[in-house]
Amino acid sequence: MNIIDIIDKKRLGKKLSNDEIEYVVKNYCNDNIKDYQMSSLLMAIVINGMDYDETYYLTKCMINSGKIIDLSEISGIKVDKHSTGGVGDKLTLIVAPIVSLFAPVVKMSGRGLGFTGGTIDKLESIKGFNVNYKIDDIIKQVNEHNICVSYTSDDLCPADKKIYALRNASGTVESIPLIASSIMSKKIAGGADDIVIDLKVGNGAFMKDYDSAKKLANTMINIGKKFNKKVVCILSNMNDVLGYSVGNTLEVMEAIEVLKNKKIDDVKNLAIEISSRMVNLACNKDINEAKDMVVNALESGDAYNKFIEFVKLQGGDLSSLKIDAKKYEIKSLHNGYIKSIDVEGIGDLSRDLGAGRINKDDIIDNSVGVIVYKKCGDYVNIGDVIADIYYNKQLNNIDEVVNKLFEFTDEVVEKNKLILDIIF
Ligand code: URA
Repeated sequence: MNIIDIIDKKRLGKKLSNDEIEYVVKNYCNDNIKDYQMSSLLMAIVINGMDYDETYYLTKCMINSGKIIDLSEISGIKVDKHSTGGVGDKLTLIVAPIVSLFAPVVKMSGRGLGFTGGTIDKLESIKGFNVNYKIDDIIKQVNEHNICVSYTSDDLCPADKKIYALRNASGTVESIPLIASSIMSKKIAGGADDIVIDLKVGNGAFMKDYDSAKKLANTMINIGKKFNKKVVCILSNMNDVLGYSVGNTLEVMEAIEVLKNKKIDDVKNLAIEISSRMVNLACNKDINEAKDMVVNALESGDAYNKFIEFVKLQGGDLSSLKIDAKKYEIKSLHNGYIKSIDVEGIGDLSRDLGAGRINKDDIIDNSVGVIVYKKCGDYVNIGDVIADIYYNKQLNNIDEVVNKLFEFTDEVVEKNKLILDIIF
């Protein structure tokens, strides 16, 4: 077997055998297959796709490239949550404490790359917050307190780590089989019993339209079935920023507002939906009962208190949480209804201010970011504040740059629906 024949086969749109997929994953991990060969194969997969069998087998090989975490010492059903990546997505910070009031929550999270943020970066903006847990310590903490959020260890799906980094650098992220196998391999190797996936759809997400998102959802659900895991996919809107804030400290602050049961409708409603689905799976409760439990956790203050407990447990000091950046108000240069917002552009802007990374070793500035005050369908007058920029670097033409991210019209525009579908 050799990699050139495998690349040729996929270039011609043919199905790869299990042996060929295994050969690729093993030999890429031990450096026998070079980055230029692997990116060529990945591009052929992006263009010609993979069927369910190939996608399932790729997932299996990526799981087997590293350790599989055994969480059987934690009693109960462990339901994991995953987001396919969005802008302003601070949901894990809210969902994990809520669900941990009812069921064990073991959450392995990653750092942000590109226009999407990462939960670990957000948590690290809280001074002292420890995200580097060994598996035994995760199990101990979850057995005592029902919650732990940790950085994924290097030996969990090393093949995915290496391939995902190459995909980011070679324009090969946006492929249903590659995204499905990447997400599912991490979740299954992470020891989850069942999985709730927040599948973002829109211009600020990898899946730009409903049909591709539905296809991705069905692919992940089918992979889950092969591994005996229930998978629920919530297709949620990413044509608006989720909530208002983008940037690590800003997002933690917004998450705390939601945990205090303040009204940030979209974040709160999506957090309730995801948490309820997790409670439904973990506690075997009817979905309406699960929803009542979740809403009550927010209204009673229990969710907020659990968040405080969780931050303390992991060594974080919330009293140190502050924005150390200058603020600049962006005023609208136009009148009209907002027809569309370039949400990926807002993510890029926040990253360029220093809140995110282009390369995985870039140092981030937790205080910077953007607060977007408007949603699609809002009416705006010239001079209204549409966004605040928190910055520490020099800003160039920032008024025009931000205004260009908003498209206006004189016609009334319908607001975006938050939850497009729930598939399981
Ligand atoms: N998130 C992942 O973990 N993998 C992908 O390929 C895309 C989003």
